[in-house]
This record gives sequence, C-alpha cells and structure tokens, in this order.
Amino acid sequence: MAAGKTVLITGASSGIGEACARLFAREGWNLLLTARRGERLEALTHELVERFGVEVRWQVLDVREKDACFHFLQAWGNPPVDVLINNAGLARGLSKLVDNDPEDWDSMIDTNVKGLLWVTRTVVRGMIERGLPAHVVNIGSIAGIQAYPNGAVYCASKAAVRFLSDGLRMDVVEHPIRVTNIQPGLVETEFSVVRFSGDESKAKAVYQGIVPLSGDDVADAVWYAVSAPGHVQVAEITLLATHQASATVVHRKG
Ligand SMILES: NC(=O)c1ccc[n+]([C@@H]2O[C@H](COP(=O)([O-])OP(=O)(O)OC[C@H]3O[C@@H](n4cnc5c(N)ncnc54)[C@H](OP(=O)(O)O)[C@@H]3O)[C@@H](O)[C@H]2O)c1
Repeated sequence: MAAGKTVLITGASSGIGEACARLFAREGWNLLLTARRGERLEALTHELVERFGVEVRWQVLDVREKDACFHFLQAWGNPPVDVLINNAGLARGLSKLVDNDPEDWDSMIDTNVKGLLWVTRTVVRGMIERGLPAHVVNIGSIAGIQAYPNGAVYCASKAAVRFLSDGLRMDVVEHPIRVTNIQPGLVETEFSVVRFSGDESKAKAVYQGIVPLSGDDVADAVWYAVSAPGHVQVAEITLLATHQASATVVHRKG
C-alpha cells in the first residue's frame, strides 16, 4: 500500500462500516475493506478511489469462518494496519429466549463474538510485532450495557464485546495500542432489515417518531477516538439519539 495510515474495517458494505470507510477516505487514509457482499465493496472502492484518491483494497470475508479470519491478511501481503474497526455484526430476530430460533443464536454469537475475536487475534498480533502506535475500535452497543426484552442473545453478544474490549485493553497495556468500545443506541442502517429478515415495514417502525443516529454519527465518534492525541485512550463512547434515554426508554412523537 502507499505510504500513509491504513484502517481495516469489517462489515464495510453498509451502515456504520460504510460510513467509517467514507470518513477515513475523506481524511486521506488507505482502506482495507471486508464484508460478505463483494459487489458492494467493489462499488464503494471505485467511488472512494475516484473521489479521494486514496488506496482502497477489498476482500470478501465472512467473519464466521475461522480459518479465513486467521489468513485473510496474507492475501494482501500482510499490510501494516494502524486502525482495526471491528464493526461486522448483526441481530437476528426479536422474541423471547424460549421462542428464539437457535440458528439465530449461532449467527449472532459466531459473528458478533467469535468473528470479532478471530479478526482481532490476527490483526493485533501484527500490531504488536510492528511496535508502532495502533488502535482497535470495537462497535459494541447500548445493548451491551443494558439488556432489553426479546433481545437476550444479541445483548449478551454485545456485553461480550464490552468485556473483550476491556480485557484486550489490559492485555496490550504495555504496547502503544489503544482499545475503544463504541456503544451506540438506535442507528438507522440495514440493521433492523436484517433483524426482521427483510421485513421493511417492521424495520421502519423501529425508528418511527424519533430521529435516530446515522452511520455518519457513529463514524464521527470513531474518528474522535482515533484522532485523539497519542497519549489519550478513549476507552468507551456511548452515544444515543436525543430522544433515547436508555436501551428501553425512547420518546416517540406522533
Ligand atoms: N444499527 C443499530 O441500531 C446499531 C446499534 C448499536 C450497535 N450496532 C452495531 O453496529 C455494527 C454495524 O451494524 P449496522 O447498524 O451498520 O448494520 P448493517 O447496515 O446491517 O451493517 C452490518 C455490516 O456487517 C456485515 N456483516 C454481517 N455479518 C457478517 C459476517 N458474517 N461476516 C462479515 N461481515 C458481516 C454486513 O456485511 P455483509 O452482509 O455484506 O457481510 C454489513 O456490512 C454491528 O456490529 C451492530 O451490532 C448497530
């Protein structure tokens, strides 16, 4: 890759990950983008290269595939990664634990927890070897602080992200590596469409009567942490829409 800093983003094909890709490209960073939908990454790459003249490389990576997560950097020639944004994640279903589809549990735990672990292991090893300042940003959730009804497994997966962030921060404390957990509330992305298996009207209802956060709002929080002076480690950021007070308290107009 060309000289300059490099950010690696998982789940860059939509929502928060895509917004982070746009922001870092605007700031002149080189990008390494991954997700399952390669056609989206390809289109985003063309756009960002054209608009910002930065170097962008993309690769299809399903973070549920352990071996792929351990080896995907090799396909790029093990480039140095200054910032890793562990963003790939999803919720599947919204129902009582006893009524959940266990396949959905696998999907959430494999993606949000195990996938994040596997990618982190691969990338942080390289960061430690390089010995230069680096940063891991995990996209957690308000759901990792407060559970909500019908979301037990998603909330548990994001609580895991919170404690993995805290534990990693301790494990790399002797290295110049910062670890940040970003914990957003309601963000309007494809998240709810995925949760409700493509049911657009159910997804829309999640954001009805409130101005939710956007992917760009979350990307701004990521940028705040990454652009802080080198001696400053932003451990956590929790950001909510103005009319959201907690995981469960939302004031809706109309
Ligand atoms: N939206 C919210 O209200 C909200 C609130 C708090 C936290 N979050 C978190 O924010 C993160 C991003 O979600 P979003 O809101 O931006 O939703 P989104 O628009 O649905 O984006 C999710 C991204 O994750 C990727 N992804 C999902 N499963 C993957 C897998 N197995 N392997 C690789 N990539 C995978 C998707 O790409 P492909 O489908 O192309 O693979 C997509 O790029 C998630 O971790 C989510 O839990 C969201």
